Amino acid sequence: MPDPTPPRRQNVVLVGFMGAGKSSIARLVARSLGFEGVDTDDLVVENARMPIHRIFQERGEEAFRDLESAALLSLAERENLVISTGGGLVLREANRKQLRALGFTVWLSASVEATYARVRHNRDRPLLRVPDPQATIAELLAARAPLYKESADLHIDTTNLSMDDIAYGVTESARHAFSR
Ligand code: S3P
Repeated sequence: MPDPTPPRRQNVVLVGFMGAGKSSIARLVARSLGFEGVDTDDLVVENARMPIHRIFQERGEEAFRDLESAALLSLAERENLVISTGGGLVLREANRKQLRALGFTVWLSASVEATYARVRHNRDRPLLRVPDPQATIAELLAARAPLYKESADLHIDTTNLSMDDIAYGVTESARHAFSR
């Protein structure tokens, strides 16, 4: 018999590429819903006691991916959270399954240009510490888009939207999903 799909919990989960605004939107949505905001990158940094670029440098990307999968699993029994996830969390199939079980999942996307404009001054994103970050963004976005899509109940293209509009869309869609 196939594994039964675990029941959905009452959380909001934000997935999407770096610079999509997941952390800021999570804070706004958490405030509106009266939920607690949680960020898987923050959990990883707390557990490893070092910043993300040092985890990549000293332990490698796979070790970082193990830490973020563990961070996600640690939330499995929780409820009333707005969870902002690292942009690469969807790479592992087990994580995608876990994301869907965790709650109402929203994919926040942005164009390559908007993404680059939002991330270019941040130095803690090791995957973008390359000679041509815009080309890397385009490649990674194209490769990951199907994985974000597969993981999400709702897709919002944030390129031309204000933070307040995005947060309102996520909040009201989540309320609707939880009331069913
Ligand atoms: C990553 C995204 C980052 C962080 C790490 C790897 C990725 O999170 O987890 O640098 O693979 O896209 P944000 O999406 O919160 O920037």
